[in-house]
Amino acid sequence: MSRLIVISNRVAVPKKGASANQGGLAVALQSALREHGGLWFGWSGETCETFDGTIHRAEGDGVNTATIDLEEQDIDEYYNGFANRTLWPLFHYRIDLTEFERDFEGGYQRVNDRFADTVMPLVEEPDLVWVHDYHLIPLGQKLRRRGMRNRIGFFLHTPWPPTRLLTALPSHRKLVDSLFAYDVVGFHTEDWLDSFQHYVTSMMGGTVDGDIVSAGGRTIRAIVAPIGIDTAEFEAAARSDEANFARDRMYMSATGRSLMVGVDRLDYSKGLRERFLGYDRFLASHPDRRGLTSFLQIAPPSREKVDTYQEIRADLDALSGRINGEYADIDWTPIRYVNRGYPREELAGIYRAAHIALVTPLRDGMNLVAKEYVAAQDPNDPGVLVLSVFAGAAAQMREAVLVNPYSAEEMADAIVTALAMPREERIRRWQALIDGVRREDVFWWCRLFLDTLEDASE
Ligand code: ADP
Ligand code: F6P
Repeated sequence: MSRLIVISNRVAVPKKGASANQGGLAVALQSALREHGGLWFGWSGETCETFDGTIHRAEGDGVNTATIDLEEQDIDEYYNGFANRTLWPLFHYRIDLTEFERDFEGGYQRVNDRFADTVMPLVEEPDLVWVHDYHLIPLGQKLRRRGMRNRIGFFLHTPWPPTRLLTALPSHRKLVDSLFAYDVVGFHTEDWLDSFQHYVTSMMGGTVDGDIVSAGGRTIRAIVAPIGIDTAEFEAAARSDEANFARDRMYMSATGRSLMVGVDRLDYSKGLRERFLGYDRFLASHPDRRGLTSFLQIAPPSREKVDTYQEIRADLDALSGRINGEYADIDWTPIRYVNRGYPREELAGIYRAAHIALVTPLRDGMNLVAKEYVAAQDPNDPGVLVLSVFAGAAAQMREAVLVNPYSAEEMADAIVTALAMPREERIRRWQALIDGVRREDVFWWCRLFLDTLEDASE
C-alpha cells in the first residue's frame, strides 16, 4: 500500500487519547495516515524571524507530523490576506467583502513555494499526496514544477463559486489552471462541481466527460465526495458522562423551555446575523411564545486579525444585546450568546439537550455541525434540525427542515414548525438523517477519495 502524505494549512498534532477532542477531519486523516503510514505536513501556527525551512517533526499515536513556521509577513499576506480576505469571501459569494491586493497574491504564491520546497524532499516515489483546501490550490503545480511525478489529489472544503463571481478575481485563470496539475480534484457537492465544470468549459474551452475534465492538454478527474463525521465516535461522545453533565446543565438552565442551539465559528458565512434576525422575527410575531424558548448560540472567535471578522463580532454583540434588551424578562434571557469553544463531549451533550438546532449558513462547503447534531440525538426523542438550503449538507440531509436563511419570515416559520413537530415525525426524519450520517461517514469519504486517487493513472 502506498504511503500517504497529507498537506494542509493547519495540522492537528496527534496526542494519545485525544482523538475525541479533535475535529472529524483530523480524526479521519489520522486514521488514513495510520492505515497507509506517512506524514501530515503543514504550518505550525508559529512565526519565525526569517524563514529557513526548518521542519518540526512530531510523532504521536502512530501519526507523523512535519510542520514549518512562517514569517509575520507570510501570515499577513497568505493566511490573513489571500486566503481569508480574498478567496474565503469570494468562494462564499461575498464579493462585497472580497479584497483584491497584489501583495496578498504574492504572499500566497510565496508560501505555496515554501510548502513545496520543504515538503518535496520528504516525499518518496510511490507516495500518494493529498492537498487540502483553498490555502494551497497552487501547491500541486509547484510540486510538479519541482519534478514530482506522484499521484497528487486536491480537496476543496469550501464552495466553488459560480464562474461570473470567480472572474472578479484578477488571477482567476492562473488559479484554475493550477488545479490541472492534480490527478483528482474533490468537491463536497454536485453544485460546486457543476460550477467548476462550467468554468472549465466556458472560460478554458475545456471538456467534461463524466468524471474526466480536460483543458489545455491536461486531464484530471473531478469528483463529488461529501465529507462526513466520525459518527460512531460522536454517538459515543454523546453518551459519555461529560455529555450527560452538559446536557443536564442545559436542562436546568432552561426548565420547561424549548432549547434551540447554534454552534459555529464566528464567521459571516455562517449567517449568524440572519439567524438572530429570524429569531427576532419569531419573538415579534409570536408574543405568546416569549419566555417559552431559549436560544443558545455558541460562536468562538475566528480569524480575528481580519477586519470583516471584527465587524461581524461587533455587529452580533450589538444585535444580541438589542434583542435581549427588547424581549428579556426578569427570569428569561432570549439569546444566550457565548464566544468560546467546548470539548467535543460537552458539545455533544449540548446538542443532545437541544430540541432544535439552527444550522443556517448563507453559504457553506458542507457544515459538519448539522451532522454532529443528528449523531448526538436521543433516538426515542430526537430534536429537529433546521438547515439552510445553502449549506453543502442540505444536498444529503433532505429530511431536515430546510430553510432560506435570508428570509427572517421563513426562519421564524421554521422555528414554529420545529417546535410543533410531533414525536413520530421527529423520529421518522431523524432516522432517515442518522442512516445517511452513519453510512456516509468520514471514513467512507476518505476511502472514496483515496480509492479514486489510487486508481488515477500517473
Ligand atoms: P467550518 O469548517 O467552516 O468551521 P464546520 O461546521 O464544517 O465549519 O466544522 C466546524 C467544526 O468545529 C465542527 O466539528 C464543530 O463541532 C467545531 N466547533 C464549532 N464551534 C465549536 C465550539 N464552540 N466548540 C467546539 N467545537 C466547535
Ligand atoms: O473548513 C474550512 C476551514 O477553512 C478549514 O480549512 C479550517 O481549518 C477551518 O475552516 C477553520 O479555519 P481556520 O483554520 O482559519 O481557523
